[in-house]
Amino acid sequence: MVGCFLAFAKSVPLGSFVLPPAQPILQVQDLAISFGRGAYPATRGLDFSLAPGEVVGLVGESGSGKSVTAYGLMGLLPHGAKVDRGVILWKGQDLALTPPKKRRDLCGRHLGLVFQEPLSALNPVYSIGEQVAEIFRYRAGLSRAKAKAKAIELLGQVGLPDPQGAYASFPHRFSGGMRQRVVIAMAIALSPELIIADEPTTALDPTIAAQIIQLIQNLASQRGAAVLFITHNLRLLTGLAQRILVMYHGLIVEELTSFQDLQHPYTQGLWRALPPEPGLREDRRLFPIPGQAPLPGEEIRGCAFAPRCPKAQDLCRLTPPLLRPLGPNRATRCHLSR
Ligand SMILES: Nc1ncnc2c1ncn2[C@@H]1O[C@H](COP(=O)(O)OP(=O)(O)O)[C@@H](O)[C@H]1O
Ligand SMILES: [Mg+2]
Repeated sequence: MVGCFLAFAKSVPLGSFVLPPAQPILQVQDLAISFGRGAYPATRGLDFSLAPGEVVGLVGESGSGKSVTAYGLMGLLPHGAKVDRGVILWKGQDLALTPPKKRRDLCGRHLGLVFQEPLSALNPVYSIGEQVAEIFRYRAGLSRAKAKAKAIELLGQVGLPDPQGAYASFPHRFSGGMRQRVVIAMAIALSPELIIADEPTTALDPTIAAQIIQLIQNLASQRGAAVLFITHNLRLLTGLAQRILVMYHGLIVEELTSFQDLQHPYTQGLWRALPPEPGLREDRRLFPIPGQAPLPGEEIRGCAFAPRCPKAQDLCRLTPPLLRPLGPNRATRCHLSR
């Protein structure tokens, strides 16, 4: 059965892998964010960087800290959350040292966030068009007429069939997929250099989800933007991401450039737990990962995955493993990996 799983894993390539340019636009170093005065750590020391034009996947089970990471990067942490340590550098500039108004302007202009639930990102009492045009009016300083023209053009670019009609419509009249297109339009309105897409397809059916992924991919490649694509579904990243960061309980536990040779037992577990691809007949059983991630604030001595890991030894339970480089853009946080 394991042989069957490995054969399946090896048959699935990631997106065409290109080495990122030397100069990242975003560098995250040892980022730790917690709720309740450090009592509930949501991220426990993240290190990664993003270069222009690359699509990077951030994957992990629910509660692993993906959204908190996204909000932390955007400077939009919810009430009660705070950065305990670490640095976020935007083109070498430390965002923590940037005055709040400047940071809001910088993030609003250069970073675009696509929220998981489009309905909560849209205001029900304003028309779709007003909400998109507002970005052009107040952030780019365009006149009312120009902002409206730009908004209609953008609604067309994200694939809404009747952009003029969409402009005057209200969010509740749109399907989930159409709302998500509007939210993407708002995120890319000012041509951000980094698009953070936080589970943008989770609420959508598979056909619409595939269209939304294609849209994000096209927009990013046309505009040369970097994308941080957040998902709990490893399979979504197939053919999309050039690199994948696997997150578990607030830490990156593996960095991948292909689904071959998965080293961390958690990543192997995520892969083996994937349901078969729709339309493909795969001769394999599903193996859900047993147990659950530690609760927020639960004390952990060694590897946070050890209680669920089929290979765990005493060392794993006692000593936290470090993220060990295995090659270019390849690393794992496991005592037992080669
Ligand atoms: N508003 C909040 N108040 C308290 N804890 C929170 C809040 N939002 C998230 N958390 C906690 O932070 C951790 C990471 O959450 P989150 O980033 O939303 O996970 P993911 O997006 O990976 O599902 C979880 O333990 C969650 O319970
Ligand atoms: Mg989330």
